[in-house]
Amino acid sequence: MSLRRCVVAVDGPSGSGKSTVSRRLAQALGASYLDTGAMYRAATWAVLHAGVDVNDPEGVVKVVVDTEIVVGTDPARQTVSVNDHDVTREIRGHEVTGAVSAVSAVPAVRKLLVERQREVIAGAERIVVEGRDIGTVVAPDADLKVYLTASAAERARRRSAEIAADHAATQADLARRDLLDSTRATDPLRQAPDAIVLDSTEMDIDQVVAHLREKVDA
Ligand code: DC
Repeated sequence: MSLRRCVVAVDGPSGSGKSTVSRRLAQALGASYLDTGAMYRAATWAVLHAGVDVNDPEGVVKVVVDTEIVVGTDPARQTVSVNDHDVTREIRGHEVTGAVSAVSAVPAVRKLLVERQREVIAGAERIVVEGRDIGTVVAPDADLKVYLTASAAERARRRSAEIAADHAATQADLARRDLLDSTRATDPLRQAPDAIVLDSTEMDIDQVVAHLREKVDA
């Protein structure tokens, strides 16, 4: 697979290690990297910034239609902008994290962002794309589909270490987002039937990346 065009889809719940694994895999493959969660976060930032209620789907769509979201595809350096304003750091804050599930559940928002994601994928030679619906909706023809998961306790442990937050509060927040992301009507988090399922609870990042590199080269 290594010499031709290659699309790798990485899906899974929050805190499963998707971002680190996807970035590292992209670097190892000399590929681009697309973080679709960053696009939903940027859309959410735009909605909050416009002072629109995230539970008002019509208002949300109006904002997102008029928002230019640019997510860089360099795996070594993430950059996210909204109408030329750099939001790379702000989209990781509490406010956006607490509101992103509502915005990403709006079907018209998903339609718009999925179109943009497909354009980025079509323009890349080799790309690792991470999200919740990549193998099922965005790139069902991906060359390799990975569903990365880990136990709820381990995911909360990793996430609270990453953001220096309280473990119990982080576990509760992950559980809330998992439930919203996997039960929404449009494009919920789901395993593609042809995805490789990897439970990383007992694995470190290097082991996961090495395992996936072997799959890409196979
Ligand atoms: O991966 P993340 O935590 O940065 O994603 C932020 C939110 O965006 C997450 O709660 C679910 C949503 N999301 C989505 O609905 N579809 C995607 N392809 C990626 C993320």
